[in-house]
Amino acid sequence: MFVATSTLPTVTARRTTIAMKMVMAVSGALFVLYVLAHMYGNLKAFGGKGAYDDYSEHLRTLGEPILPYSGFLWVLRLLLVGALVLHVYSAFYLWSRSHSARSTQYQVRKAVAATISARFMRWGGVALLLFIIVHLLQFTTNTIRVDGNFSSPYDRLVAAFHVWWVVVIYLLALAALGMHLRHGVWSASQTLGWTSSARARRTANTTAITVALVVSVGFAIVPLSILVGLIT
Ligand code: HEM
Repeated sequence: MFVATSTLPTVTARRTTIAMKMVMAVSGALFVLYVLAHMYGNLKAFGGKGAYDDYSEHLRTLGEPILPYSGFLWVLRLLLVGALVLHVYSAFYLWSRSHSARSTQYQVRKAVAATISARFMRWGGVALLLFIIVHLLQFTTNTIRVDGNFSSPYDRLVAAFHVWWVVVIYLLALAALGMHLRHGVWSASQTLGWTSSARARRTANTTAITVALVVSVGFAIVPLSILVGLIT
């Protein structure tokens, strides 16, 4: 147990903490689904300009005529922004709780490792947030233009990742994402009660590592392939 002896949380505070962890787990799960789908979509770059630009256009016409043009994309954006607000809010709540508990002594060394990893999640999360802002300015609003201005999403992609330092920035962001997912999926499994036996813990650990690797490597393949000329 990591609970400080002099500030035992009240039942209400403990319930709120559990609720906030649930909010983090569920909103995090939505992000996992999104990044997996986005990663899969990006791999269409291997199909060439036609395949990639068609896919990008398809995202905008999905659900027509029931939804207006780009309607599906806007529903998705609202969902993602809602999940992001909840994820960041619960992270702040849990951070402030652990901060106030830290004024007293931890009882076991394991708590120190947990604190380091929690701190890494926080700063990794902030780095990811900054990356997402830059990424949207680059590929969604087309505000940050690397190596020219292109109307085709495929041309924009290829032009951007011809530049080595853009690839390096993305690889760093993907490493941060991988680590965030590895710890996040594991934490969410604990919160949802999926780590009660040694076997369940092994499964949760393997799942966390697999998700982290599939997402970070799956995303990294496209910029790297462009840089070395496999995608032109
Ligand atoms: C190599 C890595 C990545 C590449 C090449 C890439 C590429 C793109 C492109 C081309 C778009 C614009 C799509 C369009 O408008 O048709 C886009 C949008 C987006 N990407 Fe990425 N992406 C990458 C990684 C990520 C990661 C790691 C995240 C999240 C953690 C992310 C989140 C988003 C979001 C939220 C959008 C906006 C979707 C929208 O509302 O239009 N991307 N990405």
